[in-house]
Amino acid sequence: MNRIVVGNWKMNTNFKEAQKLASSINVSTKNFKNVKIIICPPVIWIAKLNANLKSQISNFRFGSQNIAAQEKGSFTGEISAQMVSEVADYAIIGHSERRRFFGETDEIVNKKIKIALKNNLKPIVCVGEFSKDNAQDESNFGSIHQQVSQSLAGLNKEEIQKIIIAFEPVWAIGTGDNATGEYALKIIDSIRDRLSIIYNREIASKVKILYGGSVDDKNISEFKQKGIDGVLVGGASLDSKKFIEICKKMEV
Ligand code: PGA
Repeated sequence: MNRIVVGNWKMNTNFKEAQKLASSINVSTKNFKNVKIIICPPVIWIAKLNANLKSQISNFRFGSQNIAAQEKGSFTGEISAQMVSEVADYAIIGHSERRRFFGETDEIVNKKIKIALKNNLKPIVCVGEFSKDNAQDESNFGSIHQQVSQSLAGLNKEEIQKIIIAFEPVWAIGTGDNATGEYALKIIDSIRDRLSIIYNREIASKVKILYGGSVDDKNISEFKQKGIDGVLVGGASLDSKKFIEICKKMEV
């Protein structure tokens, strides 16, 4: 079984730190067979990291943390999917921090997903509810399903199979208050059911769906279960020991 571990470094690391972190992860995981590791450093470091690691890369890939919603042109400060595709294979799209601090709606997320696919970047699409209060309610599932259907609207059968979805409850991100494996699986199953309705069961079974939100080396076993295809790690991905331990537990 091919599991996925994504490391989202967010706006952290100088180049020296990035290089140290990437190379220790790469060295420690280069013989892994069952887990694909996707590191998403600040985009400015990716080309240099790529050049330095090239000869050792096996199951290790790079992704960006975002891409522009426009293809090219006069959009000062933005980085296009085409530019990212020259240095990376994946792009995180619609992370809750982008939705919250930069006003990204499902419509914008949808636009970015389509631009990513057009440029051969595989999107890692984040969805998740804001509050823990009604987390168990069916109405809350509805809000997650709405994000799924609107963010992925208009993708055909081939395109949907290139998508990785990360279910990340916003209340669990960076708080140390991770969801239980049971809850993560329940929502992931319901997202897969939703995809079965839109596409069909066979296609839905091929879409990778991860859990993210305060995953670390201590709680990772919760999320290593059938139905959960891997994890998206924020804070703990900046600590090489913790991150390598997470990858190891997913590998065996
Ligand atoms: P966290 O972040 O692991 O620090 O909770 C996850 C994320 O932001 O994707």
